[in-house]
Amino acid sequence: MKPLRLGVNIDHVATIRNARGGDHPDPVRAAELAMSAGADGITAHLREDRRHIRDDDMRRLKAEIPLPLNFEMAATAEMAKLVEEIRPHACCIVPENRNERTTEGGLDVAGQANFIAPFVARLNDLGVRVSLFVDPDKRQIETAKRVGAPVIEIHTGAYHEACAATRPDRISEELKLIREAAAFAASIGLEVHAGHGLTFHNVQPVAAVPEIAELNIGHFLVGEAVFMGLAESVKEMKRLMQDARTGGLY
Ligand code: PXP
Repeated sequence: MKPLRLGVNIDHVATIRNARGGDHPDPVRAAELAMSAGADGITAHLREDRRHIRDDDMRRLKAEIPLPLNFEMAATAEMAKLVEEIRPHACCIVPENRNERTTEGGLDVAGQANFIAPFVARLNDLGVRVSLFVDPDKRQIETAKRVGAPVIEIHTGAYHEACAATRPDRISEELKLIREAAAFAASIGLEVHAGHGLTFHNVQPVAAVPEIAELNIGHFLVGEAVFMGLAESVKEMKRLMQDARTGGLY
Protein backbone atom coordinates (compact mmCIF):
# COMPACT_ATOMS: atom_id res chain seq x y z
CA MET A 1 0.00 0.00 0.00
CA LYS A 2 1.38 3.41 -1.03
CA PRO A 3 2.00 5.75 1.94
CA LEU A 4 -0.25 8.79 2.22
CA ARG A 5 1.31 12.11 3.25
CA LEU A 6 -0.42 14.97 5.04
CA GLY A 7 0.49 18.49 3.98
CA VAL A 8 -0.75 20.92 6.63
CA ASN A 9 -1.87 24.25 5.21
CA ILE A 10 -1.24 26.99 7.78
CA ASP A 11 -2.85 29.93 5.88
CA HIS A 12 -5.56 30.50 8.44
CA VAL A 13 -3.15 30.89 11.33
CA ALA A 14 -2.02 33.94 9.35
CA THR A 15 -5.68 34.95 8.86
CA ILE A 16 -6.08 35.16 12.65
CA ARG A 17 -2.78 37.01 13.03
CA ASN A 18 -3.74 39.55 10.38
CA ALA A 19 -7.11 40.21 12.02
CA ARG A 20 -5.18 42.23 14.63
CA GLY A 21 -2.28 43.36 12.50
CA GLY A 22 0.46 42.13 14.84
CA ASP A 23 2.60 39.02 14.72
CA HIS A 24 0.57 36.59 16.84
CA PRO A 25 -0.24 33.77 16.19
CA ASP A 26 2.84 33.03 14.11
CA PRO A 27 2.25 30.62 11.19
CA VAL A 28 5.87 29.42 11.43
CA ARG A 29 5.29 28.34 15.03
CA ALA A 30 2.14 26.53 13.83
CA ALA A 31 4.21 24.78 11.17
CA GLU A 32 6.72 23.63 13.83
CA LEU A 33 3.90 22.25 15.95
CA ALA A 34 2.28 20.54 12.94
CA MET A 35 5.65 18.97 12.14
CA SER A 36 6.06 17.64 15.67
CA ALA A 37 2.53 16.19 15.45
CA GLY A 38 3.35 14.22 12.29
CA ALA A 39 2.74 16.55 9.32
CA ASP A 40 4.71 15.37 6.30
CA GLY A 41 4.86 18.77 4.64
CA ILE A 42 3.77 22.39 5.09
CA THR A 43 1.59 24.15 2.56
CA ALA A 44 0.94 27.88 2.32
CA HIS A 45 -0.87 29.97 -0.28
CA LEU A 46 0.63 33.35 -1.03
CA ARG A 47 -2.31 35.18 -2.56
CA GLU A 48 -1.96 38.21 -4.74
CA ASP A 49 -3.74 40.35 -2.10
CA ARG A 50 -1.62 38.87 0.79
CA ARG A 51 -4.80 38.40 2.80
CA HIS A 52 -3.19 35.73 4.99
CA ILE A 53 0.34 34.48 4.20
CA ARG A 54 2.92 37.18 3.42
CA ASP A 55 6.19 37.02 1.50
CA ASP A 56 8.22 36.97 4.68
CA ASP A 57 6.21 34.03 6.08
CA MET A 58 7.24 32.05 3.01
CA ARG A 59 10.89 32.98 3.50
CA ARG A 60 10.78 32.00 7.18
CA LEU A 61 8.93 28.74 6.47
CA LYS A 62 11.65 27.77 4.01
CA ALA A 63 14.47 28.81 6.36
CA GLU A 64 13.13 27.44 9.63
CA ILE A 65 11.04 24.34 8.84
CA PRO A 66 12.89 21.26 7.62
CA LEU A 67 9.79 19.68 6.01
CA PRO A 68 9.04 19.99 2.27
CA LEU A 69 7.40 23.37 1.63
CA ASN A 70 4.54 23.46 -0.87
CA PHE A 71 4.04 27.00 -2.18
CA GLU A 72 0.48 27.48 -3.50
CA MET A 73 0.21 30.35 -5.93
CA ALA A 74 -1.30 31.74 -9.10
CA ALA A 75 0.73 31.57 -12.32
CA THR A 76 2.00 35.15 -12.30
CA ALA A 77 5.39 36.71 -13.00
CA GLU A 78 5.50 38.09 -9.45
CA MET A 79 5.06 34.60 -7.94
CA ALA A 80 7.62 33.04 -10.30
CA LYS A 81 10.19 35.59 -9.07
CA LEU A 82 9.47 34.69 -5.45
CA VAL A 83 9.82 30.99 -6.24
CA GLU A 84 13.21 31.72 -7.79
CA GLU A 85 14.25 33.47 -4.61
CA ILE A 86 12.73 31.11 -2.00
CA ARG A 87 13.15 27.76 -3.81
CA PRO A 88 10.38 25.77 -2.13
CA HIS A 89 10.29 22.00 -2.59
CA ALA A 90 7.02 22.19 -4.52
CA CYS A 91 4.59 24.64 -6.10
CA CYS A 92 0.91 24.04 -6.57
CA ILE A 93 -0.53 26.33 -9.23
CA VAL A 94 -4.08 27.42 -8.51
CA PRO A 95 -6.50 29.76 -10.25
CA GLU A 96 -6.96 32.96 -8.30
CA ASN A 97 -9.83 35.37 -8.30
CA ARG A 98 -9.47 38.39 -6.11
CA ASN A 99 -13.09 38.36 -4.94
CA GLU A 100 -13.31 34.69 -4.04
CA ARG A 101 -13.31 33.60 -0.43
CA THR A 102 -11.17 30.56 -1.24
CA THR A 103 -9.98 28.72 -4.37
CA GLU A 104 -13.34 27.99 -5.91
CA GLY A 105 -12.55 25.71 -8.80
CA GLY A 106 -9.70 23.93 -10.51
CA LEU A 107 -7.29 25.52 -12.92
CA ASP A 108 -8.47 25.51 -16.55
CA VAL A 109 -5.27 23.90 -17.86
CA ALA A 110 -6.96 22.76 -21.07
CA GLY A 111 -8.17 26.28 -21.88
CA GLN A 112 -4.81 27.95 -21.09
CA ALA A 113 -2.27 25.29 -22.06
CA ASN A 114 -0.16 27.73 -24.12
CA PHE A 115 0.13 30.06 -21.16
CA ILE A 116 0.68 27.39 -18.49
CA ALA A 117 3.23 25.23 -20.37
CA PRO A 118 6.09 27.80 -20.27
CA PHE A 119 5.28 28.63 -16.65
CA VAL A 120 5.54 24.95 -15.69
CA ALA A 121 8.76 24.65 -17.70
CA ARG A 122 10.28 27.60 -15.83
CA LEU A 123 9.51 25.99 -12.44
CA ASN A 124 10.66 22.55 -13.64
CA ASP A 125 13.98 24.15 -14.63
CA LEU A 126 14.36 25.49 -11.09
CA GLY A 127 13.99 21.95 -9.74
CA VAL A 128 10.66 22.72 -8.07
CA ARG A 129 8.08 19.93 -8.13
CA VAL A 130 5.07 21.43 -9.88
CA SER A 131 1.49 20.40 -9.31
CA LEU A 132 -1.60 21.74 -11.03
CA PHE A 133 -4.79 22.07 -8.99
CA VAL A 134 -7.52 20.65 -11.23
CA ASP A 135 -11.08 19.42 -11.01
CA PRO A 136 -11.46 15.63 -11.34
CA ASP A 137 -11.77 15.94 -15.12
CA LYS A 138 -9.95 13.75 -17.64
CA ARG A 139 -9.36 16.55 -20.15
CA GLN A 140 -7.70 18.77 -17.54
CA ILE A 141 -5.55 15.89 -16.31
CA GLU A 142 -4.45 14.91 -19.81
CA THR A 143 -3.45 18.51 -20.47
CA ALA A 144 -1.59 18.74 -17.14
CA LYS A 145 0.54 15.83 -18.32
CA ARG A 146 1.01 17.41 -21.75
CA VAL A 147 2.22 20.75 -20.32
CA GLY A 148 4.90 18.92 -18.31
CA ALA A 149 3.59 18.93 -14.72
CA PRO A 150 4.72 15.83 -12.78
CA VAL A 151 1.88 16.13 -10.23
CA ILE A 152 -1.80 17.05 -10.13
CA GLU A 153 -3.84 17.96 -7.08
CA ILE A 154 -7.50 17.02 -7.38
CA HIS A 155 -9.87 19.73 -6.13
CA THR A 156 -12.18 18.03 -3.63
CA GLY A 157 -14.38 21.10 -3.09
CA ALA A 158 -17.45 19.68 -4.86
CA TYR A 159 -17.16 16.51 -2.76
CA HIS A 160 -16.92 18.67 0.39
CA GLU A 161 -20.06 20.55 -0.63
CA ALA A 162 -21.97 17.34 -1.28
CA CYS A 163 -20.95 16.10 2.20
CA ALA A 164 -21.91 19.42 3.83
CA ALA A 165 -25.33 19.24 2.14
CA THR A 166 -25.74 15.60 3.30
CA ARG A 167 -26.59 14.47 -0.24
CA PRO A 168 -25.62 10.76 -0.52
CA ASP A 169 -26.31 10.72 -4.28
CA ARG A 170 -23.98 13.65 -4.94
CA ILE A 171 -21.38 12.30 -2.48
CA SER A 172 -21.14 9.02 -4.40
CA GLU A 173 -21.02 10.84 -7.74
CA GLU A 174 -18.21 13.11 -6.57
CA LEU A 175 -16.28 10.20 -5.04
CA LYS A 176 -16.60 8.29 -8.29
CA LEU A 177 -15.15 11.27 -10.18
CA ILE A 178 -12.26 11.53 -7.70
CA ARG A 179 -11.51 7.77 -7.90
CA GLU A 180 -11.62 7.75 -11.71
CA ALA A 181 -9.51 10.90 -11.98
CA ALA A 182 -6.87 9.51 -9.59
CA ALA A 183 -6.68 6.19 -11.44
CA PHE A 184 -6.45 7.92 -14.82
CA ALA A 185 -3.76 10.37 -13.66
CA ALA A 186 -1.66 7.57 -12.16
CA SER A 187 -2.07 5.52 -15.35
CA ILE A 188 -0.41 8.29 -17.39
CA GLY A 189 2.43 8.66 -14.88
CA LEU A 190 1.30 11.60 -12.76
CA GLU A 191 1.66 11.75 -8.98
CA VAL A 192 -1.75 12.44 -7.45
CA HIS A 193 -2.58 14.77 -4.56
CA ALA A 194 -5.97 15.98 -3.38
CA GLY A 195 -7.39 18.67 -1.16
CA HIS A 196 -9.92 21.36 -0.33
CA GLY A 197 -12.64 21.18 2.27
CA LEU A 198 -11.43 17.93 3.84
CA THR A 199 -12.46 17.32 7.46
CA PHE A 200 -12.41 14.52 10.06
CA HIS A 201 -15.86 13.56 8.76
CA ASN A 202 -15.20 13.35 5.04
CA VAL A 203 -11.47 12.56 4.71
CA GLN A 204 -11.55 8.77 4.86
CA PRO A 205 -13.18 7.86 1.52
CA VAL A 206 -10.66 10.16 -0.20
CA ALA A 207 -7.73 8.83 1.84
CA ALA A 208 -8.74 5.30 0.79
CA VAL A 209 -8.19 6.06 -2.92
CA PRO A 210 -4.99 4.07 -3.46
CA GLU A 211 -3.40 6.31 -6.13
CA ILE A 212 -3.49 9.42 -3.92
CA ALA A 213 -0.07 10.13 -2.40
CA GLU A 214 -0.76 13.37 -0.50
CA LEU A 215 -3.65 15.31 1.01
CA ASN A 216 -3.36 19.05 1.67
CA ILE A 217 -5.63 20.18 4.47
CA GLY A 218 -5.88 23.55 6.20
CA HIS A 219 -9.06 25.31 7.19
CA PHE A 220 -10.59 22.46 9.16
CA LEU A 221 -7.36 21.64 11.02
CA VAL A 222 -6.86 25.25 12.11
CA GLY A 223 -10.55 25.60 13.01
CA GLU A 224 -10.49 22.41 15.05
CA ALA A 225 -7.31 23.60 16.77
CA VAL A 226 -9.49 26.13 18.62
CA PHE A 227 -11.14 23.19 20.38
CA MET A 228 -8.49 20.49 20.62
CA GLY A 229 -5.19 22.22 19.87
CA LEU A 230 -3.28 22.09 16.58
CA ALA A 231 -1.09 19.12 17.47
CA GLU A 232 -4.12 17.02 18.40
CA SER A 233 -6.05 18.01 15.28
CA VAL A 234 -3.09 17.08 13.06
CA LYS A 235 -2.61 13.76 14.91
CA GLU A 236 -6.28 12.86 14.61
CA MET A 237 -6.33 13.69 10.88
CA LYS A 238 -3.28 11.50 10.30
CA ARG A 239 -4.82 8.66 12.27
CA LEU A 240 -8.01 8.82 10.19
CA MET A 241 -5.99 8.92 6.97
CA GLN A 242 -3.82 5.96 7.94
CA ASP A 243 -6.82 3.90 9.08
CA ALA A 244 -8.59 4.52 5.78
CA ARG A 245 -5.45 3.69 3.81
CA THR A 246 -4.82 0.44 5.66
CA GLY A 247 -8.43 -0.69 5.30
CA GLY A 248 -9.70 0.29 8.74
CA LEU A 249 -13.40 0.91 9.21
CA TYR A 250 -14.94 4.23 8.23
N1 PXP B 1 -5.12 22.52 -1.79
C1 PXP B 1 -5.19 23.68 -2.48
C2 PXP B 1 -4.58 23.73 -3.84
C3 PXP B 1 -5.82 24.81 -1.92
O1 PXP B 1 -5.88 25.96 -2.63
C4 PXP B 1 -6.32 24.73 -0.61
C5 PXP B 1 -6.91 25.96 0.03
O2 PXP B 1 -5.94 26.93 0.16
C6 PXP B 1 -6.20 23.51 0.07
C7 PXP B 1 -5.62 22.41 -0.55
C8 PXP B 1 -6.67 23.35 1.48
O3 PXP B 1 -8.05 23.53 1.56
P1 PXP B 1 -8.73 23.65 2.97
O4 PXP B 1 -8.17 24.88 3.63
O5 PXP B 1 -10.18 23.75 2.66
O6 PXP B 1 -8.37 22.40 3.74
